[in-house]
Amino acid sequence: MGKFQFSLPGLKKSNLAVGLDIGSHAIKICELAESGKSCRLLKLGSAILPEGAVEDGVLQEPDAVGAIIAELFKNLKIKNKKVAISISGYSVIVKKINLAVMDQEELAEHITAEAEQYIPFDIDEVFLDFQDLKTSELSGSDRTDVMLVAAKKEVVNGYLEMLEKIGLTTVVVDVDAFALENSFEKNFPSQDNVVLVDIGASKMSINIISHGASILARDVVLGSRQLTDQIQSRFDTSMEEAEDLKIGKVPPEDKREQLENIFTKTIGHWVLEIQKALEFYYSTYPEDTIHRLVLSGGGAKVKGLDAYLNKETGIETEIFNPFTRIEFDPKKIDPMYVQRIAPEMAISAGLATRPSLL
Ligand SMILES: Nc1ncnc2c1ncn2[C@@H]1O[C@H](COP(=O)(O)OP(=O)(O)OP(=O)(O)O)[C@@H](O)[C@H]1O
Ligand SMILES: [Mg+2]
Repeated sequence: MGKFQFSLPGLKKSNLAVGLDIGSHAIKICELAESGKSCRLLKLGSAILPEGAVEDGVLQEPDAVGAIIAELFKNLKIKNKKVAISISGYSVIVKKINLAVMDQEELAEHITAEAEQYIPFDIDEVFLDFQDLKTSELSGSDRTDVMLVAAKKEVVNGYLEMLEKIGLTTVVVDVDAFALENSFEKNFPSQDNVVLVDIGASKMSINIISHGASILARDVVLGSRQLTDQIQSRFDTSMEEAEDLKIGKVPPEDKREQLENIFTKTIGHWVLEIQKALEFYYSTYPEDTIHRLVLSGGGAKVKGLDAYLNKETGIETEIFNPFTRIEFDPKKIDPMYVQRIAPEMAISAGLATRPSLL
């Protein structure tokens, strides 16, 4: 580790990064501390972003977003300056490739030399990372699956610079789908064959996990903002009013029937995408039944969505609470608040389990 670290009783520094999920609708922050084998929740909070500040995973208004993050750190009194973030959208490619078994060094060389064959970006313009999934060890084959991740430097650097400007150091850059997987596995370590579905404002991440490995990870550009947009145009209201109607903050009154139609139609599209992913999975693994569908993201809070998905897919469906196994002081953090915000904290909670040591 290089540097010697003093560990004085009561002065133990947090060695986990602050999880920072920069979504297109809201910033979500979560800070955890290691406590024996599990974790304790220290801080959590969220703040809504202005329209268009983050779009398709790209930071469009760094100053506005930076100011909101800085404000949130201040309000939550977070001292830890090391953050773990995740990216998503068009500027990230996650791809599974099948290669001859090699050691880590050979693999790195091969991937650097051959990357252009696998990803549609100019190799000089991306950060590349990979992980040997070691499938050969299970199958006894001389070939193995490797997960390849490429992210546009320009987009990643945009986030890093914005965070640096407000005094934060980024120690981890993850991908939304993997952070979600991490979050899930921390809470349910020995679960097999699940489909994780995170429904945000503008995208839906579908991640099928089988025998502890991600088999399929895909982002679809559907999300809860679709509902807001449609409500706004149908009733000719402001975005804020449409949002309030959507989340049930104001009663629907005579708009109930039309609202129901909007929900039914949009959710129908979401279900279709989930079913497509499941079909794709079953075409390759017909025997490996998926036992659970786990919903997260703000869009998971649509009333009755879990029951509807259960009915349409036949898979037991639940809304994810990433704090199920995480303790906290109810005098410092309101349990009702944790309960209410839990689904959209899934990714930030996953990021908050990452070590902060560079
Ligand atoms: N009760 C609810 N019913 C429907 N939608 C809701 C509800 N509560 C919150 N949402 C929606 O969830 C979305 C925010 O969720 P989340 O924070 O997961 O999105 P995000 O991470 O910012 O977006 P993305 O991941 O798509 O970039 C908003 O569109 C918000 O309106
Ligand atoms: Mg999100």
